[in-house]
Amino acid sequence: MSTDIIQVLPDKSNRLDLCNQIETIFFQTSSVQHFPSEQARMIFKDRWLTPYLSAATTEFYSLWVAMEESRIVGYLTGHSNTLRFRADHEHISLSLFADLHDDFPAHLHINMAPHQQGKGVGASLIQAYLKELQSKKIGGVHLVTGPKARNTSFYRRQGFSTECIRTSGSVDLLFMGQKLD
Ligand SMILES: CC(C)(COP(=O)(O)OP(=O)(O)OC[C@H]1O[C@@H](n2cnc3c(N)ncnc32)[C@H](O)[C@@H]1OP(=O)(O)O)[C@@H](O)C(=O)NCCC(=O)NCCS
Repeated sequence: MSTDIIQVLPDKSNRLDLCNQIETIFFQTSSVQHFPSEQARMIFKDRWLTPYLSAATTEFYSLWVAMEESRIVGYLTGHSNTLRFRADHEHISLSLFADLHDDFPAHLHINMAPHQQGKGVGASLIQAYLKELQSKKIGGVHLVTGPKARNTSFYRRQGFSTECIRTSGSVDLLFMGQKLD
């Protein structure tokens, strides 16, 4: 079955349906699987997903999906100006690496549905986003993950070669950056 990589622009007619499918994958793949309350679940979603789905009307937000027929099997959310993003959505994974955002201004989040992982589709989503950033003359992009996460080898293969580990409380976070031409 062929997989299409599609940019979801703000005026896409079935955007609401697509956002609901993205939310399903977000919770399937989230590092947190059990929430003490529905409110805690919503706070988590509003931190990591909602800004990218609801505010995608500006030039800074990006939303890419991988589709098989009419089903989303993975998505990538991004913002091309992390300094600006932080003005409304501050979080430790951003503030901890604030000094690196001039060199790597854009950031991204990516998740593939569980049955779709390891098939090479995540790489296509990343490459589509990198091309979009290059066309906008953005000089660099980054993401934050855990230093022991399995996905680090994936990001290294996609060209995220600048690495920086910092600690917040008892948690180690890994910044992975890539300069763009
Ligand atoms: C990380 C991820 C986006 C990569 O997309 P993909 O299409 O699976 O990746 P590819 O098939 O191109 O490459 C395979 C690599 O993906 C990563 N990967 C595959 N399955 C994974 C999983 N369940 N969890 C974490 N990373 C995984 C590994 O680095 C793997 O390389 P390896 O086999 O050498 O370990 C996708 O696997 C995923 O969504 N994983 C779970 C959630 C996650 O880690 N999201 C990123 C949060 S920062």
